Amino acid sequence: MKYKDLIENMTLEEKAYLMSGKNIWQTQEIERLGIRSIFFADGPHGIRKQAAAADKLGLNAGLPATCYPTAATVANSWNTELAEKVGQYLGDEAISHKVNVLLGPGVNMKRNPLCGRNFEYYSEDPYLAGKMAASTIRGIQSRGISACVKHFAANNQEKRRMSIDSVIDERTLREIYLTAFEMAVKEGKTKSIMTSYNRLNGSYTTENMHLMRDILREEWGYEGTVVTDWGGSNDRVAGLLAGNELEMPTSRGETNEEIIEAIRSGTLKEEVLDECVDRLLDLIFTTEETFAKPHLEFHVERHHRVSQKVAEESIVLLKNDDHILPLKFGRKVAVIGDFAQNARYQGAGSSLVNPTILDHTLNCFEESGIVSIGFEPGFERYGKKNEEKIKKACALAEQADVILLYIGLDEDTEAEGLDRQSMRIPQNQIDLLDALYKVNPNIVAILSCGSAVEMPWIHKVKGLLHGYLGGQAGARSILRVLSGDVNPSGKLSETYPLRYEDTPSYRYFPGNEASVEYREGLYIGYRYYDTASVEVLFPFGYGLSYTTFEYSDVQVEKDRVTFTLSNTGKVAGMEVAQLYVGCPSGNIFRPKKELKGFKKVFINAGETKRVTIPFDDKTFRYFNVKTNRWEIEEADYEIMIGASCADIRLKAELFVEGTGAPLPYDKQKLPSYYSGKIDAVPVDEFEGLLGRKVPVSTWDREKPLGYTDTIEQCQYAKGFAGRFAFHAVVFAHWFLRRIGKRSTANLIMMTVYHLPFRGIARMTGGAINMAMVDGMLMMVNGRFWKGLFHLLTETRKKRSSRAWNTLRSER
Ligand code: BGC
Repeated sequence: MKYKDLIENMTLEEKAYLMSGKNIWQTQEIERLGIRSIFFADGPHGIRKQAAAADKLGLNAGLPATCYPTAATVANSWNTELAEKVGQYLGDEAISHKVNVLLGPGVNMKRNPLCGRNFEYYSEDPYLAGKMAASTIRGIQSRGISACVKHFAANNQEKRRMSIDSVIDERTLREIYLTAFEMAVKEGKTKSIMTSYNRLNGSYTTENMHLMRDILREEWGYEGTVVTDWGGSNDRVAGLLAGNELEMPTSRGETNEEIIEAIRSGTLKEEVLDECVDRLLDLIFTTEETFAKPHLEFHVERHHRVSQKVAEESIVLLKNDDHILPLKFGRKVAVIGDFAQNARYQGAGSSLVNPTILDHTLNCFEESGIVSIGFEPGFERYGKKNEEKIKKACALAEQADVILLYIGLDEDTEAEGLDRQSMRIPQNQIDLLDALYKVNPNIVAILSCGSAVEMPWIHKVKGLLHGYLGGQAGARSILRVLSGDVNPSGKLSETYPLRYEDTPSYRYFPGNEASVEYREGLYIGYRYYDTASVEVLFPFGYGLSYTTFEYSDVQVEKDRVTFTLSNTGKVAGMEVAQLYVGCPSGNIFRPKKELKGFKKVFINAGETKRVTIPFDDKTFRYFNVKTNRWEIEEADYEIMIGASCADIRLKAELFVEGTGAPLPYDKQKLPSYYSGKIDAVPVDEFEGLLGRKVPVSTWDREKPLGYTDTIEQCQYAKGFAGRFAFHAVVFAHWFLRRIGKRSTANLIMMTVYHLPFRGIARMTGGAINMAMVDGMLMMVNGRFWKGLFHLLTETRKKRSSRAWNTLRSER
């Protein structure tokens, strides 16, 4: 232990006291031992530190901070150096805001396009997500503070995120859902990790011994701190046993007592607590060192420019018929679409940043050199079809050479706490496009949203530029691509299916009441479309440029692949060359190909470069469930270099010696997995893969509600009070939507509807304790008066103990 002497000096009470927060964002301090309180703040793409009263819901605005493009956007740059730069700038801002731990990046996999938080995550591919995350972490931590990679693990949906049990087979877990975390730990050397709210294969991730002990600590050798997601602690002692050092936010001492009691009764060894204290102290002391140096203010304008540069490299050109882009000099454009006057640039929830500067398209036009003949909103962002607005937009469109049509998803559709209902963009935007197409087919659509959408309307646009959520300078960056000042070089970090029904997890998402079965196994995103030959709209890794690239002369060696890349067009540009590996032996089922490396290369027009992509420990490995280890199959491998996963330009073969492990599967029993056709896996086949029976996926409606049951489950509560509470919440949600308060309605879903009863105590910073929750549970379970009496008595007790404590501290 690093802080052995200090820990020996601490009382049991002091050690337990450190294990939960002081308030919503800070840890506890112990003055007599020189242990300071440290500050945590969201988030992944900008600092959210609240100026006035802190509240978990983020109702009070944060201090102004640069809003960088979200992770879904930065991932499209495929530029790890750029990700590291963003990390450094985030780190500098964190320091200037006196933040020790930045709650990000988020590296959960995009299992399904509807997950409400996809905009906060990098990719459907673990290797790309892992590389981007590790670079971001290195950048953040180069400033002396800590990143906090989240949400560990298998948190791939917002619906029932605080209670759902993700049922995943071990190989899929390792190869798909944990690899990016593994890279964040081993390559990024993250100093802290946030566990997720959900259960994984039966137990909450914060208490999951296999995840937290066997894998994280033993296999990956992680020595940093683990913190719960806010309010995500379930059984505090079980969490500590698994090595979860810090419970956030504060439990106002309630769980300290549980820890002390567990040590006194021998359920928990004091050494386990000491180890947790040691690791937390390390986070506190090492990040505090940074603040001993002179205080730095960050340069607002410079940071804004960097966020613009990041957005520019992340924009993806998806369609460019007749070379409509870049816009030819002097062309008259009509700017249409509400998003042009009011940029859509970030998502909602805990990652919401209060930007220092905010660019809107209409304000940046002058400097772009593009000649605009006017602007019309064309649609109401949150409204229904508006004929008047469409008419005005068409009148303007008639006079233009080219229409720039700004469309996308609104702020309330992509949000933490709830998943999207469909993959469509609002119908009133499509109605507008239909009308414009009739008067002028020279349409370039500019799309702003943080996740994949369906595009049944794509044939009506000649150009399509996807800006994703480009942060506070996103609007200006898009104009620079439209004008040709910037040559687009982003490529999709997720697949765009033709329709939602085509997605591999379509039938299994978001699961049933109690669990979600990951029956598609390894076949997430392109791993499925590619293997099962399902046609897509845009494949993973796809993106156009204003120039063209040619690939040639591939040469494979034991540890690398080398090839030639030429810019055969007329302008300089950047190409993202991708390395995919396949193993056609058919002994172990696998996706047809998997991303194992990539390089973004800048090449001047007419120039040629020799490019090398090295192999690494992930290139040939697979997780063998028989040996319970990573193994290599002895086989001939296909080494593929592509401009996207569907556009392979070069191929070579390589024989690789294996580790000699026995084959893990019986091919006959897993036909769906061996063929990759996993859209309707029967339960017994999934159980064969899982190695056990699937758990019951429905709620037990006969059982009284308990701590881990949610407000949503009150719908079948025995007591009238419970059912009333459920209907009141549903009504409030419906009513708020009805009166147009959609973001407040979302908050209800995020913070109340899916909240487990124990969360009422864990989320309220001690205002409500577990004894009071007991009273509530009695009330909803049909013992209303007894419960009410209990609740009132406990409330009174709490008040008087608070008054007594205040008196004591005043003395
Ligand atoms: C989110 C985390 C976030 C935390 C603190 C949670 O609800 O899941 O991503 O960092 O709140 O705001």
